[in-house]
Amino acid sequence: MVAIHRRPSWAILESRATPEAVFLDRRRILQGFGMGLAGLSGLLPAPALAQDADPTADLYPAKRNEAYTIDRALTPETISGNYNNFYEYGTFKEIAEAAQQLKTRPWEIAIDGQVEAPFTIAFDDLVRKIPLETRLYRHRCVEAWSMTVPWVGFPLKSLVALAKPLGSAKYVRFETFLDPEMAPGQDNFLYPWPYVEGVTIQEAGHDLAFMVTGAYDKPLGKQFGAPIRLHLPWKYGFKSIKSIRKISFVEERPVGLWEALQSSEYGFWANVNPDVSHPRWSQAHERVIDTGEMIPTHIFNGYGAEVAGLYAGLESEPLYM
Ligand code: MTE
Repeated sequence: MVAIHRRPSWAILESRATPEAVFLDRRRILQGFGMGLAGLSGLLPAPALAQDADPTADLYPAKRNEAYTIDRALTPETISGNYNNFYEYGTFKEIAEAAQQLKTRPWEIAIDGQVEAPFTIAFDDLVRKIPLETRLYRHRCVEAWSMTVPWVGFPLKSLVALAKPLGSAKYVRFETFLDPEMAPGQDNFLYPWPYVEGVTIQEAGHDLAFMVTGAYDKPLGKQFGAPIRLHLPWKYGFKSIKSIRKISFVEERPVGLWEALQSSEYGFWANVNPDVSHPRWSQAHERVIDTGEMIPTHIFNGYGAEVAGLYAGLESEPLYM
């Protein structure tokens, strides 16, 4: 393995980041994404981020769940919607324009594995089966930046109930689409596509684990992982897989894309902990992306009271990487 080629660039603190051009020609990537340099020129205005004539638009805004509140200012959409990790559309943050190539209809989600009866459901049907709610969540990336987002969606546990897993299901494995024509980043052979992530069945049953279908009072913008993504606010952001196509209930622990690439840096658990440094940088602080302020990071990203119990008896596991 040639380390510098295998290392995900988002895993490097930006101030120290080596340009991706070290191993890939940037202009070629931009041309491949059909965006040209103009695509990087500025922030997309908020209206451009909304989906036109989205068939689920009538579901928004969704009632706020007051149980999930925060002590921080919300990140403006013009900032959070223009600073994304979505490697299917590029290995840099300004992928919002390229991500508009993502075709979100038709969009079917397969539920399979250790369930009573596997099935496939159209996203537009699924999203009407479970009531939507708005939750204000912190979002902490392993790169040591953070934002605060008003997500809209439903608890993952409601979807688990719909799937009717068997007792043999120990983990839930999520998989993103695979279509390099729609997502030119998937032509990048350095990454083991499609993007995969996973959680234990206990984590999936925790009320905080959230399936996100919208943000900022409207259907999810494509750069956020439309039409449906996961958000696990107590874990590093790479666990929160975007644009989910398949959900499998499995006996074996799933290996995520980043774990497959660099298991010594990106593990299965990836719970936020300021006292456990990434092998190449400290996790003690985080940069708030809209203000640039450096603030202390909290254990489980501030959700310790809720989730610490999930890990009782698992102390010998590398829970924080
Ligand atoms: N999901 C897919 N399919 N592809 C990705 O590249 N990046 C992950 C995660 N989910 C990623 C993904 C990472 S590293 C982070 S930090 C978050 O998405 C970023 O979510 P955001 O762009 O909404 O902030």
